[in-house]
Amino acid sequence: RAEPLVLGIETSCDETGIGIVRGRALLSNTIASSMDEHARYGGVVPEVAARAHLEALQPAIEAALTEASVRLEDLDAIAVTSGPGLAGALMVGVGAAKALAVSLGKPLYAVNHLVGHIAADLLTGDEVEYPTVALLVSGGHTSLLLVRDLTSDVELLGETMDDAAGEAFDKIARILGLPYPGGPEIDRAAASGDPDAIRFPRGLSRASDMAKHRYDFSFSGLKTAVARWIEQRQAEGEPVPVADVAASFREAVVDVLVTKALAACAAHGVPRLLLGGGVIANRRLRESALARGAEAGVAVRIPPLSLCTDNGAMIAALASQLIVSGRRASTLAFGADSTLP
Ligand code: KG4
Ligand code: ZN
Repeated sequence: RAEPLVLGIETSCDETGIGIVRGRALLSNTIASSMDEHARYGGVVPEVAARAHLEALQPAIEAALTEASVRLEDLDAIAVTSGPGLAGALMVGVGAAKALAVSLGKPLYAVNHLVGHIAADLLTGDEVEYPTVALLVSGGHTSLLLVRDLTSDVELLGETMDDAAGEAFDKIARILGLPYPGGPEIDRAAASGDPDAIRFPRGLSRASDMAKHRYDFSFSGLKTAVARWIEQRQAEGEPVPVADVAASFREAVVDVLVTKALAACAAHGVPRLLLGGGVIANRRLRESALARGAEAGVAVRIPPLSLCTDNGAMIAALASQLIVSGRRASTLAFGADSTLP
């Protein structure tokens, strides 16, 4: 059976992603981001993101087709993220995907954004094995998943109870007077700081949290602790040691993420951990996951960053696997579902 040629559309947040794959082969991965427009608001503004998708979609589709040397009529299917994400942003992608599928007479596949992140791993060209634990960390989600089968058995083990990890980076950066998005800024500032300078709290890590929230995350307490620490310092008339605060904060986030992910690997007897999401760009997170994974006998996989951040290629890759596994196409009855589980 020929490998399906699929065009994937991703518009769940601020990236307009169009990807084209043939089976597991990546043919193009076009991304237009509206991040610059959100920067002055200090966070992604849903209405602004939706409008930006509407403007970026057509040129992004054309660029992706050109890059892949593919014509619309050659495609076997269209795939689109139907959720979770920002409702208005998702709606633009879903509308465009339906219009394309209907006008071309091609099957349409609605896919889950988080499962799409896991599918990104297929495009690396390496051998991929299941089961695997997956840790997805971005500005919009912080989820720990157990993947027994990509197309039929993905279990949510835990997720954030409040802020996403990337959001926590963005908020702390703001408190420290660093620009948005704050993740890369904190990473840079932390390079010259001492991660043990200040002991910030590790959310949901006490013994009493373990029964109900073993694999869940919480970053709001950490955020408050950092803010209080800085306020107290200022009240004492002392300068704020930005590098030390950044390094200690980063360490607290990374410690919880890696500890819980490896605990899930151990509890389920799964010696594999896949990382995904934009926060994977964090140097300390990569370093710590690789080192502690090696100690624990867990093989840690980190796809290239262009496949870790939101993109259309991972959506196309997932649909391609669904087609190969015999899954029927979606009917046009589905809509954008911002809280898709
Ligand atoms: O996956 P992503 O590109 O998209 C959205 O969530 O929309 O992730 C963006 C998030 C932002 O919150 C940003 O601050 C964070 O990822 N981020 C980082 C780093 N680079 C980006 N967080 C920590 N360290 C980094 N180096
Ligand atoms: Zn994402």
